[in-house]
Amino acid sequence: MSGNSNTALTLGESARPVKPRVVVTGGSGKLGRATVAHLSSSGYEVINFDRVRPKTASEDGKTGLQGAYRLVEVDLSDMGQVLEALMEIDMAYKKVDAVVHLAAMPSPGQSSSSKQFNTNVSSTYNVLEACRKLGITNIVMASSETLIGIPLDIKPAKLPITEESPLLPESAYSLSKLVGETLADQYVRWSRQSHRNPTGGEIKIVSMRFSNVMLEEEYATFAGWQDDARKRYWNCWGYIDARDGAEAIKLALENKTLKGHEAFIIANNNTVMKRPSKELVEEVFPGVPYTPLNDDPNVTVLSNEKAKRVLGWEPKYDYKP
Ligand SMILES: NC(=O)c1ccc[n+]([C@@H]2O[C@H](COP(=O)([O-])OP(=O)(O)OC[C@H]3O[C@@H](n4cnc5c(N)ncnc54)[C@H](O)[C@@H]3O)[C@@H](O)[C@H]2O)c1
Repeated sequence: MSGNSNTALTLGESARPVKPRVVVTGGSGKLGRATVAHLSSSGYEVINFDRVRPKTASEDGKTGLQGAYRLVEVDLSDMGQVLEALMEIDMAYKKVDAVVHLAAMPSPGQSSSSKQFNTNVSSTYNVLEACRKLGITNIVMASSETLIGIPLDIKPAKLPITEESPLLPESAYSLSKLVGETLADQYVRWSRQSHRNPTGGEIKIVSMRFSNVMLEEEYATFAGWQDDARKRYWNCWGYIDARDGAEAIKLALENKTLKGHEAFIIANNNTVMKRPSKELVEEVFPGVPYTPLNDDPNVTVLSNEKAKRVLGWEPKYDYKP
């Protein structure tokens, strides 16, 4: 991705090397911290929009930002803040080149369902609408594996799950992610209308349907799941290392051939289990047609083939020592 819009300085801003400037929303979170670190070390100027400081940040927010040039405290459910922060911040920066929208209240069960739905939907609307108003056309968003029908108490029609599998949200959280993808479809359509987009630049929005995001320090917990196929059946035993998620985001940002709105499942090559995937499927989803993706006995049941083929992505981090 080339950066060219951040050469104009805002009043009081000091000149610094020109790098593509990307805003990561939710950059203080689990996936966000890995993404900020990865993009920063890959030559981007990263600005983190979040309500809270990352866990390791100092009181004044100037260190421990995982490499982010700056943390801007933004409540994404407030359009005024989103629009202003994406335009310009006094003495800090003017214009951004791309947005990675990860901020959300993740996973069900940690707030009232309505608060979770309303926060996630308003944040995504505000980000997409502010990008439209400001002509920001390169957007990557966190969607979710939950769209496949998690917790899968209703058996899937067939396996493996692919991007073509039916979208069956079963929670307010998952509904909020489906609304996010629907908004993405419509913002792409709007970007093709001259009255809404006078500059004519068609937007690219990439929705990443992440599987369960894991940090390296969480791999020790996998041992406790091995005795029972039902402990992790709810997402087809999938996972993704935060660092591999960050690399998929970077590849999506840099992809120049994608157009419009495209969704990708981002899951590791294997499951969290040592037992063969075929055995797990037969035990938990008897009668569901299943064609393994390849000969690896532990092959993922959430197909990651589209992300590999289109983005050139290959997960590198495995829970197995
Ligand atoms: N963790 C997973 O297993 C998983 C799986 C699939 C998808 N996702 C999605 O990936 C994204 C990142 O997830 P995560 O695990 O890093 O979550 P996280 O809770 O660790 O981080 C989310 C961040 O968003 C911020 N945030 C939330 N609402 C905000 C608002 N209104 N304004 C500003 N900041 C706000 C939070 O402060 C937090 O730092 C989310 O969109 C989540 O839904 C996560």
